[in-house]
Amino acid sequence: MSPRCQTQANALGATAILPAETPRAVLLDKVDAMLGPGAANAPAGLHRRFIAASAALGDLLDTAASGGHLPASAIDDSVEALNRAAEGGDLDAWLDLVWQHDDATYQHCLLVSGLAAAFAHRLGFGEADRRLITGAAVLHDIGKARIPLDILRKPGKLSAEEHEIIRQHPRIGHEMLTAQGGFAPMVLAAVLSHHEYLDGTGYPQGLRAGQIPDPVRIITICDIYAALIERRSYRAPKPPEEAYAILVGMAEKLDLDLVRVFGEVIVAASAARLGRQAEATTASGRRTGTAA
Ligand SMILES: [Fe+2]
Ligand SMILES: [Fe+2]
Repeated sequence: MSPRCQTQANALGATAILPAETPRAVLLDKVDAMLGPGAANAPAGLHRRFIAASAALGDLLDTAASGGHLPASAIDDSVEALNRAAEGGDLDAWLDLVWQHDDATYQHCLLVSGLAAAFAHRLGFGEADRRLITGAAVLHDIGKARIPLDILRKPGKLSAEEHEIIRQHPRIGHEMLTAQGGFAPMVLAAVLSHHEYLDGTGYPQGLRAGQIPDPVRIITICDIYAALIERRSYRAPKPPEEAYAILVGMAEKLDLDLVRVFGEVIVAASAARLGRQAEATTASGRRTGTAA
């Protein structure tokens, strides 16, 4: 269970890590949870894409933490997996898989990038723009790889000083990518500015509407929504409708035209879930001969 072992396991695409002495009942429960309903309901191929994106992300976070050169192949692999998953249109099945991930940082990155890929697809962007947006989402919090784990994983509320340290992550990420070179200006902008608000109350630069380009606004919306529906140790996750209502209530801070389209992404996701459930019910009815 050392941080090093956990990072290596994550880099192989692990979605759960248990100590060797885990009681058998706990182990079986975990395996049971991994087999369904998320994995069992995931359409063919989606689970494979999820593991590919998760492993690529592991590679990225591991290298980022150790100060190495971020592997372009890992970024490309995860973007490819995410965009193909978005084309399948089953965002909700993707979210089910994300919830099975034990590590909060992975959960958050896979969640934001899954949402951003689906959002870019919904907006009708071409392949090149979708790659940029999804890539920016994958990397948006890369600076957190350099924030001490005891602060990142602290259960409960952060002190003012700890909060200030976490708030450094956009600048740290931006510096990392700039130092390495070769990243699109839009990706750099998203990494630096995804906590900026249109009314100038965000950080780190307090930018205002005209200074925040659309792709950055897209990542910001996905990031806030993701944070609201995530499980945190100190508060319950918000249901999707409530989380979306909060976005709509941030009218001065977010681009409402984009928020509206984002609403369609979420509605489409829950429609797909209902369709899948209906299909599963019909199929099991057929198996047991009880279908009407
Ligand atoms: Fe962030
Ligand atoms: Fe984030």
